[in-house]
Amino acid sequence: KKKLILDVDTGVDDAQAIMMALAAPNVEILGITCSHGNTKLDNACRNTLRVLKACNRLDIPVYRGCTVPLLGIQRHAGDFHGKDGLGDAPDPDAPGLELLQKRSAAQALIKIANQHPGEVSLVATAPLTNLALAAQLNPSFPKNLKALYIMGGNMESRGNTTVCGEFNFVADPEAAYIVLDRFTCPTHIATWEFSCKNSLPWVCNFLHSIAIAQSVGVVDSLPVSSPLSQSFCDTWLAQDTDKARFMERISHHTRMIVQTERYQKELVSGPGFNTCDTYALAAAVDDALVTESEEVAVTVELEGKHTRGMMVLDYMDLLKKKHKVFVMKSINLEKFKQLLTNALK
Ligand code: BDR
Repeated sequence: KKKLILDVDTGVDDAQAIMMALAAPNVEILGITCSHGNTKLDNACRNTLRVLKACNRLDIPVYRGCTVPLLGIQRHAGDFHGKDGLGDAPDPDAPGLELLQKRSAAQALIKIANQHPGEVSLVATAPLTNLALAAQLNPSFPKNLKALYIMGGNMESRGNTTVCGEFNFVADPEAAYIVLDRFTCPTHIATWEFSCKNSLPWVCNFLHSIAIAQSVGVVDSLPVSSPLSQSFCDTWLAQDTDKARFMERISHHTRMIVQTERYQKELVSGPGFNTCDTYALAAAVDDALVTESEEVAVTVELEGKHTRGMMVLDYMDLLKKKHKVFVMKSINLEKFKQLLTNALK
């Protein structure tokens, strides 16, 4: 089985990614580390436990990570994911935070990777603070990983939080910089634009996109039709299972908010679901999922007024970086849909 650790800031698409990993028969999840990000850290921890409970997998250890980025302001995406990160759907039976492990996320990452050198892949769908901290604490930690899969960054300087910045990287630019600099294991990146290309329209309707829409007029160039259709989304959520009903509940807020005038007025039409994080996860689960990727050196801009947190691709090799990453370009959509479907079975 593939050994995975997930680093999450459990909002709606992190939940989808976790459920996809849990459903994959070829995967063993060694632990889930939580970060600030889509919502406050305690919410992200609680949401992770809720997802595990919904899947009867509270046996998987969950670790509390960093509450704030290494530097700079704290950002959340409550308008999109709901204040609590999971659509503010009431859950009186939510598991308590006492179920969290005592070890911190960074320490857990180091320990798990060191216990299985070269065998564990890490899927990171949150700001990269926990990963950067672990690398600072133990420089050999990144070397012990088999591979790293990231949802974050951008490849065409198209942001969703700032003009040029994608949420996970903008929420901790220094952490993203450290990770892209020090993690020399094979690194696969599902960027913001990649998710837009493959997702339903409302991935492009992401709250953060308002900033771009207003400032650089990219709305016209975002896809108006998408490989994942609305009817796929409807069928996906209509599966007669407790997991599908859980997903229907926690994604209700995001599915509704994109139909409001505020979104419809400014952005491409149509409801759907935001599933960016699942691209990184799916790539880790199935080696044949990514059908095209570009190998290139990357770094993160730390200073620009409009570009802080933007991923920079060094096509001309001017940075002379030895380590290159794989920026995903296309995937096998049928396989991806199957993984999504299985997640709710
Ligand atoms: C990323 O930001 C978050 O809100 C999503 O969960 C995803 O990880 C997209 O920019």
